[in-house]
Amino acid sequence: PKTLASSDIPSRIPPYKGLFEKLKEVYKVLGKETQLTLTEKILYSHLDSVEESLLSYTQNGKEVRGNATLKLKPDRVAMQDASAQMALLQFMSCGLPSTAVPTSIHCDHMIVGERGADIDLPASITGNKEVFDFLESAAQKYGIEFWPPGAGIIHQTVLENYAAPGLMMLGTDSHTPNAGGLGAIAIGVGGADAVDAMVDAPWELKAPRILGVKLEGHLSGWAAPKDVIMKLAGLLTVRGGTGFVIEYFGAGVDTISCTGMATIANMGAEVGATTSIFPFTQSMGPYLRSTHRIPLLRKASNYAGNNRDKAIQLLRADPEVIYDEVVSIDLSSLEPHINGPFTPDLSTPLSQFKDAVKTNEWPESFGAGLIGSCTNSSYEDMTRSEDLVKQASAAGLKPKADFFITPGSEQIRATLARDSTLETFSSAGGTVLANACGPCIGQWKRTDGVSKGETNAIFSSYNRNFKGRNDGNPSTMNFLASPEIVTAMSYAGSTTFNPLTDTLPTPSGNPFQFSPPSGLDLPFAGFAQGNLEFTPTPGVPSPDHAVIISPTSDRLAVLESFAPFPTGELEGLRVLYKIKGQCTTDTISAAGPWLKYKGHLPNISANTLIGAVNAETGETNVAYDHFDLAESSEPPKSGIPQLAEKWKRQGKEWMVVAESNYGEGSAREHAALQPRYLGGRVILAKSFARIHETNLKKQGIVPLVFESEGDYERIRAGDVVSTLGLYEMLQNGGRGEVSLKIEKREGEEILKVRHTISKGQAGFILAGSALNLLAKQEGA
Ligand code: F3S
Repeated sequence: PKTLASSDIPSRIPPYKGLFEKLKEVYKVLGKETQLTLTEKILYSHLDSVEESLLSYTQNGKEVRGNATLKLKPDRVAMQDASAQMALLQFMSCGLPSTAVPTSIHCDHMIVGERGADIDLPASITGNKEVFDFLESAAQKYGIEFWPPGAGIIHQTVLENYAAPGLMMLGTDSHTPNAGGLGAIAIGVGGADAVDAMVDAPWELKAPRILGVKLEGHLSGWAAPKDVIMKLAGLLTVRGGTGFVIEYFGAGVDTISCTGMATIANMGAEVGATTSIFPFTQSMGPYLRSTHRIPLLRKASNYAGNNRDKAIQLLRADPEVIYDEVVSIDLSSLEPHINGPFTPDLSTPLSQFKDAVKTNEWPESFGAGLIGSCTNSSYEDMTRSEDLVKQASAAGLKPKADFFITPGSEQIRATLARDSTLETFSSAGGTVLANACGPCIGQWKRTDGVSKGETNAIFSSYNRNFKGRNDGNPSTMNFLASPEIVTAMSYAGSTTFNPLTDTLPTPSGNPFQFSPPSGLDLPFAGFAQGNLEFTPTPGVPSPDHAVIISPTSDRLAVLESFAPFPTGELEGLRVLYKIKGQCTTDTISAAGPWLKYKGHLPNISANTLIGAVNAETGETNVAYDHFDLAESSEPPKSGIPQLAEKWKRQGKEWMVVAESNYGEGSAREHAALQPRYLGGRVILAKSFARIHETNLKKQGIVPLVFESEGDYERIRAGDVVSTLGLYEMLQNGGRGEVSLKIEKREGEEILKVRHTISKGQAGFILAGSALNLLAKQEGA
């Protein structure tokens, strides 16, 4: 039978020859002497047209990085089950028979972790049946590889099967950059961006700046690859990587396992980086071999060295390259770090953690240690943790905290089962959860009696620790660490325990101290195949296959296309809400229980902006209908989505006013789709988060920026706005000035505003949405 990780499938090998030829063109346009980073080589070799994206910059002597708009043609798309729903619904509305690039779906986000894989997996499959049926049926129709529930977590499955040096991939999940551990440029995007690639439209990206991270020395003892990114997160903070790709270099990169590099690349998302990438290193060969990808290894090796063309190497940076910024980390002196609570950049070296617990009055005991997930479930991670468990078991110890293990994929689970690692964990009292996200994404049914609102601590080897992320309890402090540290500390159940220096009492009376963990990068016998039920569907389109969506479903609804822009200015727009302070995509479209409605735009729209603070009253999610004064002199109040819904029914369009960095956070496209669905036309803000600003334009909403930030004070909820010059600007492909006429209760004002609408984006807005434009072009 076919192995899970077979690379005899040609679509799993990047088109190296074509990329190499494109790269030659890039040097021709930029000049033979140009020194390029690895990131630039891979990105630019995926340009739709090298000349169109780069030529004008070289002619004007302008830096490409940070300025040029790259129009890219990615090789592949991967989607997880929660975000795939809306992406597929959008793709379906384009009317194409199959996806233009190889695409995969991974069912991982909707599986609950509670009592162990055998019980949890069937229960979650039953509970989400209609969504899984929809995804599978659409996958079959359009030729998408479908990895069923239980097959694994998207990023681990991608690493084992699709990631490849030089590949460019889009994934509808923030931690898609995990594939950078195997030398791919893999970028987390929203569904609408994934649809660009799926319909063969160029995907736009502002040419990123490159942050070089130089690794020197080598890891030893307790220090793990996770500690590299934990330290870096502390140095850069959660915003420090914004607009950058993080590119690792230096002699230290050759000392880290391929899966260790994936852990580091995965968590580049925590510092806001576009993605992270490692060059083609020694450890990639053994990893590709043990995941059964020798043909890929041979091809990649050809393009990594000098043997194709002495002057050009596709899979390594040029020797004299200059990074925009450089950070150095000495692996030899790196100590384990613990990051958190509540933010991944609050980084504390282990030796100082005890003091930090006391100073900050964090809980001194913790209830659960969770290892694995997409970030840390490699063979190396698990065998190093196993070593610690064996040491403790030999001393007669059991974990004091509940101990959960999440294998990242069926391949890793089956291998760990074959090699008795899982048995070691289970006999020590650990619970092996399904190969899925589970507690990492809030799908954790805790059974230890911690009630909501109760302050408590947990330790995990995961990547994110925002409030409420794991168990829905905003008072749970999740401290992030390597799986080794989480495992050892679980035996103490104490946050002040330092496994490097402290001892634990044992039944024999002899104090026990852990020795540094040891493990294996890769299994001697290669990876096991696992349960064949988890083999993906083959990715061949069946045009006659019906997509299953029940018309009475409350979780899935076919998307109706948005109306085109009117042939003239927008008039009579009502200001629905003036938002005070931070407004993330989570504020605009909350997650948690709403995850259930990701495929049903009308239903999920009931959470629109429910986290937004009213600038005039300080209330959260309380809006006033200043246009409904019939009954009393006080405007009636309601939730924001309820008022938007009411105005939608009345045929009244609206806008929102906001402060800085509107739409920061994940690339959640629902945050743009929902306001549009409810009748939102314009968002006027002091500034926008880049990805969300693009998402708004793609859904036909106009993002406008105050010319002066102080103008925020000149407009409020209940004002009525007409645009001046907007229609003309859109018709002129983004050229021209725009103002707003504001009818206030005390008179009229004109506000000048700015925009970043490009020619292509003006087309989206005029058509009503990017999809409408695509559908028009495809003649659907
Ligand atoms: Fe994401 Fe965690 Fe799953 S980071 S892919 S939710 S394991």
